Amino acid sequence: MQLSDKKATLSFSDGSPSVEFPVYKGTVGPEVIDIRKLYGSTGMFTYDPGFMATASCESAITYIDGDQGKLMYRGYPIEQLAQNCNFLDVCYLILNGELPDEKQKTDFDWLVTHHTMVQEQMQTFLHGFRRDAHPMAILTGLVGAMSAFYHDSTDITNPEHRRISAIRLIAKMPTLVAMAHKYTLGQPLMYPRNDLSYTGNFLRMMFGTPCDDYQVNEVVERALDRIFILHAEHEQNASTSTVRLCGSSGTNPFAAIASGVACLWGPAHGGANEACLNMLEELQANGGVEKVGEFMEKVKDKNSGVRLMGFGHRVYKNYDPRAKLMQETCKEVLAALGLENDPLFKLAMELERIALEDPYFVERKLYPNVDFYSGIVQRAIGIPTPLFTAIFALARTVGWISQWDEMISDPGYKIGRPRQLYTGETERNI
Ligand code: ACO
Repeated sequence: MQLSDKKATLSFSDGSPSVEFPVYKGTVGPEVIDIRKLYGSTGMFTYDPGFMATASCESAITYIDGDQGKLMYRGYPIEQLAQNCNFLDVCYLILNGELPDEKQKTDFDWLVTHHTMVQEQMQTFLHGFRRDAHPMAILTGLVGAMSAFYHDSTDITNPEHRRISAIRLIAKMPTLVAMAHKYTLGQPLMYPRNDLSYTGNFLRMMFGTPCDDYQVNEVVERALDRIFILHAEHEQNASTSTVRLCGSSGTNPFAAIASGVACLWGPAHGGANEACLNMLEELQANGGVEKVGEFMEKVKDKNSGVRLMGFGHRVYKNYDPRAKLMQETCKEVLAALGLENDPLFKLAMELERIALEDPYFVERKLYPNVDFYSGIVQRAIGIPTPLFTAIFALARTVGWISQWDEMISDPGYKIGRPRQLYTGETERNI
């Protein structure tokens, strides 16, 4: 980061001396006021619950312009990546900062492909779960357990260990998600196949059985690969910040990523795609398009506790660029699978149409986010609703591990330790 010409001055109404702070600028986007010396010079903290105006770190991975609805990984607009690259190219880019050349691509694809198998004993661990456990509960456990199975790559001070654990996580997540799915179904677990693409292999592990040859449908493969690309990274969102905070204590990468999986589960974050599809299904069961108006009234009534899931975003105050791409993919997949008249898609389009015209949503700058259409695509592909967030976790793993590595590689990184405004009892005696 670069020092800006200007400085920020904080003054007080009680006559305390004012304090000056340096201002830094990045390559693009808002400048930041460096308040690291605030407590030392004033004895005060800043107060910003929910990090509404706080940059928690410096990062060179992803840039979002929420007002313009722009998203870039390593400087490349998401639209270009979604159209010209596959998920593993994007993983390489996010991890290394540049798109791979032909040889780098071949080597990287080979490396990831040849690390997709998981330690056989992880199956024993998996069998400890109830069959009706939520896939995100299983995934949180399995990813955390990787620290016990792969402790030969947990020395975080060793860049080679960090690289190996990144490859292991990216390569094994599809296997773990498919294991969770097959376990729920009570079907045999499918081993990975090295002659298939990353996404094709995942589809086979999810939907194939040892009884039949599984043929990968190319439209479905491309759609799922696009879902992975769109979810790969999103700067300092709640789960990524969780991974950074957890990792800042020096814990191993598998434990840090497990914390990200746990955070992603929540309905305000990665759980929104599941919540959104449940909402659409419930609405469909209770009158469908006819009842959209009534439902929207409930959404706008603060006392109802109902939110339009898949709408709104902390950063995007314009159309989420990923939602546009996802809507395109949704149309393609439904057409390819002969589901053009899918009632849930029609319902989603109607909700979107009304919301984009309704002053409640317009004034609050609430637009569809990536999850609004991704659930419909996943459902069409045959992915069960409770697994949606696990798919998101699979895709986001590269973002989490790259952000974690960026933090650990910075020689000046510190353990994350926010402060508080204490409002409890003052000292008292028993
Ligand atoms: N439906 C109805 N009203 C909403 C919605 C919604 N989906 N989202 C926000 N609002 C309203 C709020 O009630 C609030 O209104 P007010 O100003 O009158 O009080 C205003 O819009 C601002 O909303 P906040 O919740 O303060 O915004 P915040 O940035 O904290 O929340 C969030 C963002 C959590 C994503 C929110 O929009 C939401 O709950 N959306 C639904 C869940 C969802 O789709 N999450 C996915 C996020 S994307 C992702 O993680 C991949």
